[in-house]
Amino acid sequence: MAIHTVLVTGGAGYIGSHACVELLEAGFNVVVVDNLSNSNPESLARVQKLTGKSLAFYEVDIRDKQSLSDIFVKEMPDTVVHFAGLKAVGESCEQPHLYYHNNVFGTLVLTEVMQAHQVKQLVFSSSATVYGITDKTQYSEDLPIGAINPYGRSKAMVEDILRDLAEADKIAKPDKPWKIALLRYFNPIGAHESGLIGEDPNGTPNNLMPYVAQVAIGKLPQLSVFGDDYPTHDGTGIRDYIHVIDLVKGHIKAIHAFNNAHFVEGNCKAYNLGAGRGYSVLEIIKKFEEVTGKTINYKIAPRRPGDLAEYFANPELALQELNWKVEKTLHDMVADTWNWQSKNPQGYR
Ligand code: NAD
Ligand code: UD1
Repeated sequence: MAIHTVLVTGGAGYIGSHACVELLEAGFNVVVVDNLSNSNPESLARVQKLTGKSLAFYEVDIRDKQSLSDIFVKEMPDTVVHFAGLKAVGESCEQPHLYYHNNVFGTLVLTEVMQAHQVKQLVFSSSATVYGITDKTQYSEDLPIGAINPYGRSKAMVEDILRDLAEADKIAKPDKPWKIALLRYFNPIGAHESGLIGEDPNGTPNNLMPYVAQVAIGKLPQLSVFGDDYPTHDGTGIRDYIHVIDLVKGHIKAIHAFNNAHFVEGNCKAYNLGAGRGYSVLEIIKKFEEVTGKTINYKIAPRRPGDLAEYFANPELALQELNWKVEKTLHDMVADTWNWQSKNPQGYR
């Protein structure tokens, strides 16, 4: 089999660094483009240590068209996995321009460069956050899109742009049509089981799992549980948590699927990457205490604006068309989070 080269934007980040490990282990050449705006290059040093394989790294912003183009000329990738983006919902409400510029304009530049170099296989990091308000708790890919904040809308806009690109090729019928997988992540948590790489949030974490881990290690005094009066079995919010290793394996399955019937003539398809079941905030706390032997100091606080009571994935389509499903358990997710956090109390610093 010819060795394929995958260009990974945002490869120094949380999910991207785990993807680099899996891609290298699956035999791909890996080229990372990251501006390090939310990451530390130590993650890539550790990826190479962990795998015993090397990768190419360029500290470049994907909006820098000339530098990106030069990388395509030099490295000749055949596929791009696109993680680069900003992801904090609250910040996106305060600075929408920053989010649209980085996430939407960044993807426009990337796809222009890809098109110019006839690299037309793309895996995109989308999010369950693109789904609109619905009375359903289990989300299938055919639910209407209707994100409620600038971050979510930036993802929904990119999905639209990518669908339009693929559609244009269907009309023009080029020799090499776009093949695009829009992967809608539910709630990624956990870390590589080695404890060498993991999630290293800047400042105080916004998300539940890194917050709980920092309370457990004593960096933060107390967790606020945002609402205990939701219509769920224990009153706290329910989400579909997915181990980051299961998640990145979904990307490799998507790359392989570009050769199967669903993509052979060119296409742009969305897939949920989730477990298909949810856990409440209190269940997460309980599991964390059980696995680590630590007591998590928490208080019940008011609901966080914009939060929903409960949602989880219908992951059937990814099983049928990508041959992917989660393999790890909640115990694995918590144990691997704790292994990373306790071995790296200051993250990569
Ligand atoms: P992260 O911040 O750890 O990684 C993103 C990486 O992209 C960082 O290394 C950052 O430096 C880089 N980057 C940002 N803008 C860039 C630019 N213009 N040019 C080059 N590099 C740039 O985030 P993550 O959690 O690994 O998320 C990866 C992707 O998955 C993001 O697109 C995010 O929106 C999406 N996503 C994440 C989650 C989650 O919960 N973590 C959920 C759904 C979707
Ligand atoms: C959040 C983002 C979503 C993004 C996802 C990435 C919002 C409104 N949504 O989703 O766009 O794609 O992260 O993983 O920010 N919780 C607490 N205390 C905390 C933190 C969280 O009780 O300190 C609760 C929340 O209310 C929720 C659950 O824990 O019920 C999970 O929260 P979080 O990890 O922030 O993820 P989401 O809100 O699902």
